[in-house]
Amino acid sequence: MTWRATVLTLFPEMFPGPLGLSLAGRALARGDWSLEARDIRAHAADRHRTVDDTPFGGGAGMVMRPDVVDAALDACGDGRPAVYLTPRGRLLTQAMVRRFAAGPGVVLLCGRYEGVDQRVIEARGLTEISIGDYVLSGGEPAALVLLDACVRLLPGVMGAAASAEEESFAAGLLEYPHYTRPAEWQGRRVPDVLLSGHHAEVAAWRAAEAARVTRERRPDLWQAHLTAMQGTAIADPAVTP
Ligand code: ADE
Repeated sequence: MTWRATVLTLFPEMFPGPLGLSLAGRALARGDWSLEARDIRAHAADRHRTVDDTPFGGGAGMVMRPDVVDAALDACGDGRPAVYLTPRGRLLTQAMVRRFAAGPGVVLLCGRYEGVDQRVIEARGLTEISIGDYVLSGGEPAALVLLDACVRLLPGVMGAAASAEEESFAAGLLEYPHYTRPAEWQGRRVPDVLLSGHHAEVAAWRAAEAARVTRERRPDLWQAHLTAMQGTAIADPAVTP
């Protein structure tokens, strides 16, 4: 079965956008997944195709009407998880991406204006997801990000390189640095161990580098990694105090 993505948006022209190119675009052309961008405005009931209104209680901006959003969601009706992209949502993680990719697909609701009426979020049991602690002008770029992350995990979309990379992230560490030819460039040499041909030493160096980079840049991930390693039988060569 094809993994199906439906995006509900006021700007369907934003899709497939970057997802029509490169890896995701080739997978789309092959039929490994499908993408349908639907205009929320098509579900407006009045002559003016109104999708939003002023917030009760006052304040700046406009709020998307629950009846219009509900009708748009009805039109995709099936068992796929329905996600509302919003900076108020839970932060998107690789674990969540893995779960979405393993299912039948997703329905993604992109908000504009100040947001979507709370009642339709509750009534439809929408999963609210944020892609990071910053505010975009709409959910569309977030939908593109979520879809890109899912599509690369679909069967047959990426080869061995991706699964190796995915495993390293699954272990909760950032990646070690990569090098290619030339061995010396602008006076900078590739670390000797990588030219040595000693596979075990290369693996140990990479594990140590992944640990160092994670500790320096993402103390939150590093702590989580240490906690996950506690009590496991396998000693982690990357762990250095
Ligand atoms: N819409 C606006 N900002 C967003 C964010 N950071 N994540 C998801 N959707 C958004």
